[in-house]
Amino acid sequence: MTLDEIRARYLAFMQARGHTVIPSSLLVPNGDPTTLFTGSGMQQLIPYLLGKNHPEGNKIVDSQKCFRSEDIEEVGDNRHTTFFEMLGNWSLGNYFKDKQLPWFFEFLTNGDDAPEGSRGIGLDPSRLYVTAFIGDTNNNIPKDTESVEIWQKNFASLPKPIDAKVKEIGSEENGYKVGMRTESGEEARIFYYDAKKNWWSRDGTPDKMRAGEPGGPDSEVFYRFDDSEHTSEEKQKWGEHCHPNCDCGRFLEIGNSVFMQYLKNADGTFSLLPKQNVDFGGGLERLLMAKHNNPDIIFVAHKPIIDAIQYVAGISTNEVKLYSRPEYTRSYRIIADHIKAAVFLIADGVRPGKADQGYFVRRLIRRSVQHLDKLGISKSAFRLSLVVPAVADMYKTQYPEIKEKEREIEQIIDTEELQFRETLVRGTKELARFASDGSISAHDAFQLVTTYGFPLELVIEEAGERGIKQIDMEGFKELLKAHQELSRAGSEQKFKGGLADASEQTTRLHTAHHLLLKALQMVLGKHVKQRGSNITQERLRIDFSHSEKVTPEQLAEVEQLVNEAIAADFPVIHSELPKEVAESLGAEHEFGAKYPDRVSVYSVGPTGATAENPQYEQAFSMEFCGGPHVEHTGELAGSRDLNTLSKDGEIESLNKTNPPFKILKEEAVSAGIRRIKAVLQ
Ligand code: ALA
Repeated sequence: MTLDEIRARYLAFMQARGHTVIPSSLLVPNGDPTTLFTGSGMQQLIPYLLGKNHPEGNKIVDSQKCFRSEDIEEVGDNRHTTFFEMLGNWSLGNYFKDKQLPWFFEFLTNGDDAPEGSRGIGLDPSRLYVTAFIGDTNNNIPKDTESVEIWQKNFASLPKPIDAKVKEIGSEENGYKVGMRTESGEEARIFYYDAKKNWWSRDGTPDKMRAGEPGGPDSEVFYRFDDSEHTSEEKQKWGEHCHPNCDCGRFLEIGNSVFMQYLKNADGTFSLLPKQNVDFGGGLERLLMAKHNNPDIIFVAHKPIIDAIQYVAGISTNEVKLYSRPEYTRSYRIIADHIKAAVFLIADGVRPGKADQGYFVRRLIRRSVQHLDKLGISKSAFRLSLVVPAVADMYKTQYPEIKEKEREIEQIIDTEELQFRETLVRGTKELARFASDGSISAHDAFQLVTTYGFPLELVIEEAGERGIKQIDMEGFKELLKAHQELSRAGSEQKFKGGLADASEQTTRLHTAHHLLLKALQMVLGKHVKQRGSNITQERLRIDFSHSEKVTPEQLAEVEQLVNEAIAADFPVIHSELPKEVAESLGAEHEFGAKYPDRVSVYSVGPTGATAENPQYEQAFSMEFCGGPHVEHTGELAGSRDLNTLSKDGEIESLNKTNPPFKILKEEAVSAGIRRIKAVLQ
């Protein structure tokens, strides 16, 4: 079975149960601009989990491309990747636990002999272990006994019934003490864990959740591999009292059903959401690992890439064993993961760069180059880009855009590799200069790493070759730590795994963002398209296509247009339209993104328009967007007294003296892309 087959079976299975398939959104989130990457399937569903009606109905299914930058350092072991696909199904107030858990169980255990639309992946049920939420008395959230009862029924209903015993574990640490056996000595199959393990929200546990966030208890399914499938090195990590959620690698989480039913209130309490939702996420690659009973994600889901590396490096196939040589495995895994992720990110519009998403693409490519060198195969005519066709071929059915952009992606990777190799040459020269007095100080090493981008491992290696045995690593680490703390403080907001908070201020800036895009088009021309955005509670940022500096006069004009739209107190109208209709009305949408057949559209103005009669033709701005937005642009005037609104909707005096919308900065990001930061004051 392949990734394509599992994905197709899952979508068909859920379609047969009334779900509508929606396309994956881009890896760079659209409309939810405070996060860098799409890291889970539910990201594009957030407004609907909070209660809005989804244009495609209340049962949705998809396979979402995900990138988790936070896992980059873990890549190289047998189960971490930065890029993966998450299968997802959602009930937006339709079905709940009673359907979700049996459906997922059927999908996991039904084989090829099941009828069309009910075929699953035929896993051996005796290898499946499940978890549920133990409850949280402090927050008044009950223990999830319902899920446990449903799981027991699932296991009992098998042709060869399994008597699933239950064990309360609580914390992960307690698991190491108590292990998996019940008091009577039998191995349990269903485990209760605390909120650190069996609660899902974008912020983590109930205590950590911000006000306005949705979350809920979840129930995970783990697959237990054959012990003989693990290497002895992996087995050494297993604790004496192993348990499903102990992260030692013996068990693998393959799916998580989140029962999104709670909302965190401003006073710290929890209330029920307007709808009881299901948010299911299952790792496509991980399901394939379980299907093949092989705990090595790279070997299972990146094999064509490994083959391509060996092929272009001129290593004959009977040397495939190279991959399984411990001194090489890690490097192969890193290259295979990183090149796949870089290809997908570039295909979704990210370019290697110094900041934000671009920084990660650069890092993925540079790390891959380093590991190619480690393998010793870049000494031949090998270039990283030679592996791109293997990725494009693997995904030609599901993501044909990669194949279409193959040449462009290769060029971008080539340029970055070349540039990095030049950096390496420069760094080596600098290092020789620093080393001429027979030592490399902490400060020298720090400068090589931060200013010249020279990797630390290479500093150590090159120093060794010059007979310098000692580098002040302690001093280096201190300098680096201070440096990282400084930059972290600056980027905390951006790198938080979650999404835009739906706070009032972020929502206001989101609406201002729409007005700004329109004003830019009015002043600079129709060629202006959004190329990126980021909104925090403090400011908005937009990247857009335009090849010259925007003059101060033009900026003043843009500011004025936005402030006029605020003063006009236009209604902000949400509608759901067939995609073609929205397109024909000229609604702004992201170039290259895929949208479902019915789309959510936000239009601003004209005065007097209503949801029933939106008068699109005369709207000030119209965009494909999931929200959230304010209801009237006058709200962007913020804390100002809205009672000064006159009857015909004008905010008196305000705009002439102290207009709310202000552009802080305009600058270049890269060739043809400009960036504006702006605030509402
Ligand atoms: N949203 C859940 C997750 O990402 C399904 O695990």
